[in-house]
Amino acid sequence: MKFVIKNYGCQMNVNTAEQIARQLTVAGHQQVTNDALADVIIFNTCCVRNTAEQKILSHIALAKQLKQKKPNLRIAVIGCLSAKRKIKGVDILLGTDDAKQVVEKLGVPTQPLPPVTSETAYIDITYGCENFCSYCIVPFVRGKLRIRPYAEISAEFDQVKDHAQHIYLLGQNVNAYPNFPQLLADLAGRDGNFTLHFLSSHPKDFDEATIKVIAAYPKIARDIHLPLQSGCDKILRLMNRKYTVAEYMAKIACLRSYIPDVHITTDIICGFPGETAADFATTVATVQKIKFNAAYIFPYSNRSGTVADKLDDQVPFQERKVRATKLVEIMRKMS
Ligand code: SAH
Ligand code: SF4
Ligand code: F3S
Repeated sequence: MKFVIKNYGCQMNVNTAEQIARQLTVAGHQQVTNDALADVIIFNTCCVRNTAEQKILSHIALAKQLKQKKPNLRIAVIGCLSAKRKIKGVDILLGTDDAKQVVEKLGVPTQPLPPVTSETAYIDITYGCENFCSYCIVPFVRGKLRIRPYAEISAEFDQVKDHAQHIYLLGQNVNAYPNFPQLLADLAGRDGNFTLHFLSSHPKDFDEATIKVIAAYPKIARDIHLPLQSGCDKILRLMNRKYTVAEYMAKIACLRSYIPDVHITTDIICGFPGETAADFATTVATVQKIKFNAAYIFPYSNRSGTVADKLDDQVPFQERKVRATKLVEIMRKMS
């Protein structure tokens, strides 16, 4: 059969989509990019913000139109959005991020795969998240934190390390891996011509021990993504982030003292419930002080079921966008 995979969301989804494609390909099926040629279209979805959700729903609607002309076309919707809600008129709706389960649901038996030989390799180290940042849907759709067994991580690493130039360790919060610094040192100390990356870190768990390992191992990338979310303590508390601006800044100072050439990126949410103009100004001042190399800036998006969705003082949608646009502009001028 011919299959199309449409992928949305984070790096963890990129990894799942690759695994599905590899499983189907070894079983003799063919990946294509043209929907009109497909026997099955697989949507690997995201629901972190409403914009993502609406975009995916509109793409699914197009696939449904195509199915009216081609009744044998199968539509499969997997991943976070299908864990969050029902979607009518599709053949498979599976709220999982487990590639094996998806492939089997398509009626294809799974098998051990030959090693990845691509330039970039992804290795999951944790699944799920139980931090429950008050705005975030991920803990609801990805489930409790699960730690991947060391033996699996280690074996997969050894399979890819001689081919891949870039190896990414993935988790919603990689610092939740028990003794993450030790894992990093263990893997970065192996031979091979790779650069080791990891995504994402949570500032509350990102510690000096991790920073020391990065500094000590030249094979670990000097790019650190450390999502700040807000530069205002009142908002950080409401977000349930469990660190203060001062604590965050101390970690940045520590990073820069051990690794002077470090490249630091972040995520910021604008217009979180209760964020006044003054709170936003505080965030702007914090961002200007820290001098990030880049920031991904999002207007706050209500996700039903989360604590933040039920807070009073919701900031008007228009104002969230105005603030986000303003911060993007400030970042642009700084760089
Ligand atoms: N586990 C990762 C990624 C979470 S999703 C982490 O904690 O860093 C990626 C980014 O999306 C988050 O860092 C946050 O900035 C943003 N995000 C998550 N939920 C959001 C929401 N409801 N509205 C707007 N942005 C959101
Ligand atoms: Fe969401 Fe927070 Fe978990 Fe990241 S750490 S996935 S923002 S709940
Ligand atoms: Fe999106 Fe799910 Fe990743 S909601 S950001 S695809 S964990």
